[in-house]
Amino acid sequence: MKILVATEKPFSKTAVDNIREVVRESGNEFLLLEKYTDKSDLLNAVKDVEALIVRSDIVDDKVIEAGKKLKIVVRAGAGYDNIDLKAASAKKIVVMNTPGQNSNAVAELVFGMMILMNRKNYSGATGEELRGKKIGIHAYGYVGRIVGLIAKGFGMKVYAFDPFVEKVMVENDGVKWEESAESLYSKCQYISLHLPANNKTIASINYDLLKNMPEGATVINTARKEVIDEDGLLRMFQIRKDFRYLSDIAPDNAEILLRDFSDRCFLTPKKMGAQTAEANLNSGVAAATQIVNFIDNGDVKFQVNKF
Ligand code: 3PG
Repeated sequence: MKILVATEKPFSKTAVDNIREVVRESGNEFLLLEKYTDKSDLLNAVKDVEALIVRSDIVDDKVIEAGKKLKIVVRAGAGYDNIDLKAASAKKIVVMNTPGQNSNAVAELVFGMMILMNRKNYSGATGEELRGKKIGIHAYGYVGRIVGLIAKGFGMKVYAFDPFVEKVMVENDGVKWEESAESLYSKCQYISLHLPANNKTIASINYDLLKNMPEGATVINTARKEVIDEDGLLRMFQIRKDFRYLSDIAPDNAEILLRDFSDRCFLTPKKMGAQTAEANLNSGVAAATQIVNFIDNGDVKFQVNKF
C-alpha cells in the first residue's frame, strides 16, 4: 500500500528517514510531500494513496474526496480539529491521532515563553520569578500533566481543572483539583491552556472568565487560537494593565495586540510547540507504526472517529 506523508510544516530529516524505514520495512511504499504551498499539490498527492500522515494540514472534504483509495488518515500529533471527521467517516476512512507523542515539546515551550516574558525578553531589565506563584492548568491531558510536573520543579503551586479527568488522578500527581474553570482562574496568576478546539471550547476563554484572575494575570496558550474569545482578550488587555498573553498560535487580531500591547503580549512567529527533533521523531514514527499495525492487523486503537 502507498503511505503518504504530507506536511506543510515538515518533520526533521531524521524523523522522515525513520518514518520511511518503518514504511519500507513493512513492505509498503513511502511517498513524501513537504512544504507544499498550494492545496492542489495535496489534492494531487493524495489521489493514489491508501494512507496519509499529516500534521496541522487541513484534511477537509475536498481532500477526502480526492483520496479515492484512502483507508486511514493519521494526524501525527494531538489535536485533530484540522480533519473533517464527518467526511472521513462517511467514506469509512479511519482517523487517528498519536496522543502524547509531542506533549513534552509543547509543555517545555510553555515555560520558555513564561521566562522570556518574566525576564523582559532577556533585556537585563528587572524581571520576576516563577517560584511560589500559582499556575492553573486548564485541561489536564498529556501536555497539561507535563506542565504540572515542570511547574513543580520551578517551585510553583499547581492547580488543574478538567471536567473529563477524575479528581483522584489529578490529586495523585500532587496537583490541586479545581471543580470549575471559574475557581481555577480566580485563584491562579498563571493559566496554561491545553483544551482541544471543539463546539464546547471554541471562544470559551472569555472576558468573564479572565477578569477574575489575580494581579499579574498571565495566560499561556499552546493549545488552539479558537478557544480564546478574541474580543474578550482585547478587552482584558485594555482594562487590565497587568494582563499578559503568551501564545504559540497568533489570534486573528494579532496585529492590534502587538501594536498596542507589545510589552505584555508575546506570539511565536509560527506555531512551534511541537517542533523539536524528539517530538517530530516520536509522533512521526508513531503515526507510521499505527498505520502499519492497521494494515497488518486491523488495529484501530487510536481511532478518533466512529462509523
Ligand atoms: C498538536 O495538536 O499535536 C500540536 O498542536 C502540534 O501541531 P503541529 O504538528 O502542527 O506542530
